[in-house]
Amino acid sequence: MAATAQTSRWEELFAARTRADVGDGIAQVLAFLGVPGLISFAGGFPDPLTFPRERTRTLLAEFAENGEVDAFQYAPTRGLAGPLDAVAGRIDSLQGRRPADDELLLTSGAIEALDLICKTFLDRGDTVAVEAPTYLGAIMAFRGFESEIVAVSMDDSGLDVDELERRLADGLRPKLLYTIPDHQNPEGVTLVTERRTRLVELAQRHGFLIVEDVAYRELGFEADAPPTLWSLAPDVVVQAGTTSKTFFPGVRLGWAVGPAEISQKLVSAKQNTDQCAGAVGQRLVEEYIRRGWIDEQLAESRALYRGKRDRLLAALERELASGARWTTPRGGFFSWVTLPDGVDSTDLAARAAADGVGIVPGTLFFADGRGSDSVRLSFSMVDESQIDEGVERLSSLMR
Ligand SMILES: Cc1ncc(COP(=O)(O)O)c(C=O)c1O
Repeated sequence: MAATAQTSRWEELFAARTRADVGDGIAQVLAFLGVPGLISFAGGFPDPLTFPRERTRTLLAEFAENGEVDAFQYAPTRGLAGPLDAVAGRIDSLQGRRPADDELLLTSGAIEALDLICKTFLDRGDTVAVEAPTYLGAIMAFRGFESEIVAVSMDDSGLDVDELERRLADGLRPKLLYTIPDHQNPEGVTLVTERRTRLVELAQRHGFLIVEDVAYRELGFEADAPPTLWSLAPDVVVQAGTTSKTFFPGVRLGWAVGPAEISQKLVSAKQNTDQCAGAVGQRLVEEYIRRGWIDEQLAESRALYRGKRDRLLAALERELASGARWTTPRGGFFSWVTLPDGVDSTDLAARAAADGVGIVPGTLFFADGRGSDSVRLSFSMVDESQIDEGVERLSSLMR
């Protein structure tokens, strides 16, 4: 009773954006981490086998023994000069364009980059266009700023740019369009080059900002990669990147790169979130890039995830009842399964959890309640030897 009275008392004091409940989907997914014995296709977590323990130890020992100050001190809000230079160089080598000094900032993960973009652009009721489905963390960030979220369909070639164009012609006026063009979370699909060109043209014509999330871009299983939206049109794109999937999430280090005027506003907004991204993580990432270790690790990580992807697709092919469909990711962590008629994703996820298998129902990836016919399967963290067993259990639950 006391707890109820307490809750309602504070409710009156909560800000409107807090009362506008963003949901607890992320917490639900993170909670799967602690369940012993679970075969988890749930979180988009990197496999701990990819964590560079020895190299991290070497670097930390060097920082300590060399009397280094930077790694231990507060950093400038935009980032330390060395790490900024290393990240800019890497963006240049991977995307063919080097950000100018006033275009790039280092953030506490990509999620902070999204938060700073929200703070900078969104007033209550502003429209943000997203892919349907999209990354849960982004939906929660946009909801947290009381924006109007409008979902645009996807297919196997990524965001449906024709649909977006039609809706813009019909009067849709988003401030932001958020997209994950490479190995998308949750569908695992990649936006084809021709649509990338048209998308940036639409932004230029209609005056909205594209927020390009490249979280999985460096985890492609094939040699070719389409150009990034930011490299195609740096005047209308802010790119949010992360080292969580290529280095390790414990450092919470990402970046935002975009037009200098916007980048400056993001730096201003960052002053009253965390003031600066953690310096020790910045220095670790800098050295990891400069010594070529990130590329060595990525070669191994891609092979590891590719093997798991192949195992998962083979198991789905073998086990799933007719009527189910799934995407074939060319990189990243996810396949998206459309369930046979009559199978409800929330019900299936609950029964799967009781049977020792973690999956995330599709409903968490839509802002408008859709997704009862689909689930996300993440193959990144599950032990490869457990994939067959996990899919077999799911398949019998579906029957
Ligand atoms: C599409 C996407 N963007 C951003 C993030 C979060 O990145 P970070 O750990 O850098 O905050 C994730 C993590 O799952 C993600 O899937």
